[in-house]
Amino acid sequence: MVLKHFVWILGAALVLQSCSGEATVEDNDASEDLPKTENTAGQELYTENCAQCHGNDGQLGASGASDLSASTLDDAELTKVITEGRNAMPGMGPILGKKKSINAVVDYVKELRK
Ligand code: HEC
Repeated sequence: MVLKHFVWILGAALVLQSCSGEATVEDNDASEDLPKTENTAGQELYTENCAQCHGNDGQLGASGASDLSASTLDDAELTKVITEGRNAMPGMGPILGKKKSINAVVDYVKELRK
């Protein structure tokens, strides 16, 4: 009787563990190569709106995107390119919306520099 109980609890524990185990693997996959940052708002906006061309590390270069780790633009120039776009890069101002969001992305892009 006691043993049967124990087996049941063990089984339940294993099921619970395998579920949470999978969730952890998925979380890791998504954020695997994201740089560590305090600026999580900027990172989130960047991964959603910029990484498909620039890559999580800024170096992907898809669709002719600039290597952001090698960029030398200052804050004003970054804000302008990000807000209005330049050549093949679409203006992201309308998507980012608030000035605060644009500033967070500008700060995050600078964190990608070496
Ligand atoms: C559709 C692809 C695409 C997306 C999405 C995109 N970019 Fe770009 N980005 C480019 C291309 C292409 C260039 C090069 C533009 C040129 O040749 O003038 C560029 C250039 C830049 C530059 C200029 C770098 C330099 O030193 O000259 C910055 C900064 C930049 N992007 C930041 C961002 C940020 C931040 C986002 C997200 C809010 C973003 N980009 C989203 C394609 C993209």
